[in-house]
Amino acid sequence: MPAIVNCVYDLSKREGKMMNQNFSRQYLNNDWQFTRSYSEAIHGNRVDTATLETVRLPHTTVETPFHYFDESIYQYNSAYRRVLKAEESWRGKCVLMTVEAAGHESEVFVNGVSIHTHRCGYTAYTVDLAPYLRFGEENVLVIRVDSRETLDQPPFGYVIDYMTYGGLYREVYLEIKEQAHIRDVFPKVSAVKTDNGLVGDVTLECEVTLSPQSEETRVSMELLDEDGKLVQELLADGGKNELRGVKLWLPEQPARYILRAKLWKNDCVVDIHEEKIGLRTAEFRVDGFYLNGRKTKIRGLNRHQSYPYVGYAMPESIQRHDVHILKNELGLNAVRTSHYPQSHHFIDECDRLGLMVFTEIPGWQHIGGEEWKKQAVRNTEDMVLQYRNHPSIILWGVRINESMDCDELYHLTNAAAHKLDDTRATGGVRCIPKSSLLEDVYTYNDFSHNGTNPGVVEKSTITPDMSKGYLITEYGGHMFPTKNFDDEPHRIEHMLRHARVVDGYYGQDDIAGGFGWCMADYNTHRDFGSGDRVCYHGVLDMFRNHKLAAAVYASQKKCRAAEDVVLEVSSAMDIGEHPACQLPDMYILSNADVVKVYKNDQLVGEYEAKDTPFTNMPRGPMQVRDFIGDLLEKNEGFSHRKAEDVKELLRAANTYGITNLPPSAKLLAEKCMLRYGMTMESATDLYNKYMSNWGGTVRTYRLEAIVNGEVARTVERRPVTSAALTVDVSGNVLTEGASYDMAAVRIRVVSQDNAVLPFYQEPLKLRVEGPIEIVGPDCVAPRGGMCGTYVKTTGEAGEAVLYIESANLAPVTIRFTVKKQEKSE
Ligand code: GAL
Repeated sequence: MPAIVNCVYDLSKREGKMMNQNFSRQYLNNDWQFTRSYSEAIHGNRVDTATLETVRLPHTTVETPFHYFDESIYQYNSAYRRVLKAEESWRGKCVLMTVEAAGHESEVFVNGVSIHTHRCGYTAYTVDLAPYLRFGEENVLVIRVDSRETLDQPPFGYVIDYMTYGGLYREVYLEIKEQAHIRDVFPKVSAVKTDNGLVGDVTLECEVTLSPQSEETRVSMELLDEDGKLVQELLADGGKNELRGVKLWLPEQPARYILRAKLWKNDCVVDIHEEKIGLRTAEFRVDGFYLNGRKTKIRGLNRHQSYPYVGYAMPESIQRHDVHILKNELGLNAVRTSHYPQSHHFIDECDRLGLMVFTEIPGWQHIGGEEWKKQAVRNTEDMVLQYRNHPSIILWGVRINESMDCDELYHLTNAAAHKLDDTRATGGVRCIPKSSLLEDVYTYNDFSHNGTNPGVVEKSTITPDMSKGYLITEYGGHMFPTKNFDDEPHRIEHMLRHARVVDGYYGQDDIAGGFGWCMADYNTHRDFGSGDRVCYHGVLDMFRNHKLAAAVYASQKKCRAAEDVVLEVSSAMDIGEHPACQLPDMYILSNADVVKVYKNDQLVGEYEAKDTPFTNMPRGPMQVRDFIGDLLEKNEGFSHRKAEDVKELLRAANTYGITNLPPSAKLLAEKCMLRYGMTMESATDLYNKYMSNWGGTVRTYRLEAIVNGEVARTVERRPVTSAALTVDVSGNVLTEGASYDMAAVRIRVVSQDNAVLPFYQEPLKLRVEGPIEIVGPDCVAPRGGMCGTYVKTTGEAGEAVLYIESANLAPVTIRFTVKKQEKSE
């Protein structure tokens, strides 16, 4: 039996959330000392610790206010210092330190010697510390991190519509390896044959990269299922493996396998490398996108990786929670990581839950000088090498977002991506039609919809080469910024604009799909946004609370389980919120089989998928124009014909006002008087009774979502009589593991019917007990009836509580359990 000689390969540790990562990692996330001002003195053995703050990673250079702050406040040439005891047992080995992200230029020093500089704030780097370490002793490790936007590297050089927060905002870890080790194993799936779309035959090649010191070694490789059971031994020499009857990776079934490579020297295993992989092909063809050979419409949103207060520095669980929101709450099948590669935790969760990803190199409109361009090419290489094992990634963005043509640069980025990954297509996001198409897919920001015209333009007017694929990478956004506290007509129009574009791209077969701008509101530079350093472009607010437009996406979900049922209505049905007190049409956003609408407990209509002006998308918002139904026949004894005429007239009176009727309605009024003997008085009575209910009994609306013949969800709209706090917590069990953990708490103020109260803005007081702390202020105000907070573990285990209190509302108590995982360093 061959022996495993390297004791760091403890296979029992490979389970858990950190997948697609090597299980031999030792995290260096704790005990850093931080200063906002780097100076050489920091390298010394004795430093004045009073000037240093002890911090844990992920870390942001400064905690920011929610809004109204200047981008200069996070920009420093700062430093992180840490003592690293180099074990005797590391002697002769590689001591590989990986920095997952440092915003934005970072330089590593060991015992005062500069050993590496990395010039991208969004990609990782790995450096071998071994040649510089004193084994058996304490060493001083310093990472200088420059977050100033004057740096000559992407994305800097001109304006940028997002904040570029700084710091060691992702994790840092060590891997101790033999000189001979496996650097990477890249699985390439080239063909899939399937009958049912879920299981199929697959061709898989594995490309193995070894460290240069790996002479006289050999590699063996195997494919295991997620439970660790052997599926098949694989060829490790780049040969083609034919896999039969394997589960495919797709959003509906994100099946994963473990690819395990072992490096052998004689009879000993000197390294083991595991990757969680998915078996699938992804192709952009002339007529759309094909996943595993099946045409699939891409329905996604753009995501920035920023959050209130902490900027980019969010730990694993919150990164993963965003995927849950995109996939499970919003029912999307794709996300674009605008405008840079994002956390591997986020992408790994996309792999795990089944959310396809379009990721791209950092940048925003501007292309810099020669050094800058070289860095853009390096960023392309780093992005592809670091992310190519994620099955969720279906397309590489190899252009600076919305930059002008620059063939010389983009020939290089395309070549770099293709060389390092010949399985995926390239795209490059632009806002100009018919620009130079060096990529495989024309990826275009279609902001043409202005509320009055079609949702999208045709492929033929945009792409210079109709034989290549075409994908819409942004729409919406600045065309109609929308706050949760905007008035209802504005929020409805925001929702309708999203629906028009989604319906537009569903209506055109040769558009692969679209990514809306964007998932959540975000802090931005002074040149953009609403003046308070916020772009209110999200279908969610910054805390990830849903705006009405979110329901356009959520209602596309298939109803598989009770929690999938969506029932949202566009209006609170308060007449005074609308000009001239005229209620607009109501829209129902639902994925139920049928939605029944009751007014004052009387059924006035039943709506299904076909009852929508948005006929291309799976489930368009259903338009309700009639709240009278057949009540005139039932209650007043009118004939069907008369009831329909009267309804039409009452509706016209509601829309235009009685003194302002258009000619067609005036004719109808005459008909009602002459043929049915109606008078102004009787018409007014009917209007008050059936349209306005003015002075009458309270108007109530009830909607029932029917699924498989049962009422699956109910929504009621009636005057608000009481308000209450309601919360949604990303997780009540927090884990002190590789670093601290956090919970995201979404807070809403709702009516007795659970409808958000958009104009509630009284302050809420936050208080904690136990081993957690509040991130951000301890007094918050709902904006549009919604806000949020974050709590963070403090290093201790135990029971903790968050109290949310206010002068007017019943308090809410949220309990957390903080667990401690065995220390990883
Ligand atoms: C696009 C840009 C995005 C964002 C958006 C706002 O032009 O690519 O980053 O600024 O506009 O609508």
